[in-house]
Amino acid sequence: MAVAERGPRYSTVSLILHWVIAVLAVAQILLISASDQEGPNQGLWMMLHKSGGVTILILTLVRIGWRLKHPAIPLPATTPRWQRLAARTTHVLFYAVLLIMPLTGWIAGSAAGRGFEYYGLFDFPLLPIGGGRETAGLMMDIHGAVVKGLYVLIALHVLGALKHQFVNRDGVLARMIPFLPARR
Ligand code: HEM
Ligand code: HEM
Repeated sequence: MAVAERGPRYSTVSLILHWVIAVLAVAQILLISASDQEGPNQGLWMMLHKSGGVTILILTLVRIGWRLKHPAIPLPATTPRWQRLAARTTHVLFYAVLLIMPLTGWIAGSAAGRGFEYYGLFDFPLLPIGGGRETAGLMMDIHGAVVKGLYVLIALHVLGALKHQFVNRDGVLARMIPFLPARR
């Protein structure tokens, strides 16, 4: 049986960073919903939310550094210009949101003097920021507003990926999912 020919694929580092950040980002939303419910583990969910958030911040900085040295694989030549622009805009906004969310959370906690233990291991450093409850409140307002952008981006992104896979059948999804056979 002929082995399906593979198209280009992202490097292992890019794949790991994409999927670890994607899973952590979705987990952030589940963790905050869990911490909103009354129960004995509320504090645990919140600690995991804060730890996951600063992990996303660190990994996103690493990822942007990696990405600057390793450009994305070009989309297939058949992709219309507006779709290239839409994909690029979505990706840039993803990076912005993945920095703004953890930064506002971290600044808010720092301003309010509310520290947390990173995955229960050590006290995560607070930023030397004053401002108390007022700054914390402002940062949390931004945190709560920007996450709506994250929901929109995830929806657009996943719909775009599914369109490439099932409508265009151009192997774009297989570049990010190593075990998926490229459809050509
Ligand atoms: C089922 C979920 C997901 C699928 C199927 C998926 C699929 C993909 C694919 C196929 C690409 C490569 C696009 C290309 O080659 O032009 C990509 C890139 C990207 N994805 Fe996802 N993704 C998913 C979830 C997420 C999530 C949750 C995030 C953010 C938290 C995310 C952030 C990104 C970013 C920032 C890029 C651009 C990489 C770059 O070129 O710099 N993805 N994704
Ligand atoms: C990508 C990273 C993050 C995402 C996607 C995220 C997502 C969310 C969401 C969806 C909410 C609920 C907002 C609302 O109900 O209006 C929330 C609340 C919150 N987040 Fe984050 N967050 C992230 C990072 C962080 C970090 C790093 C911290 C702190 C170090 C943090 C601390 C908080 C706090 C204190 C709340 C308020 C909880 C409450 O009022 O019950 N978050 N976050």
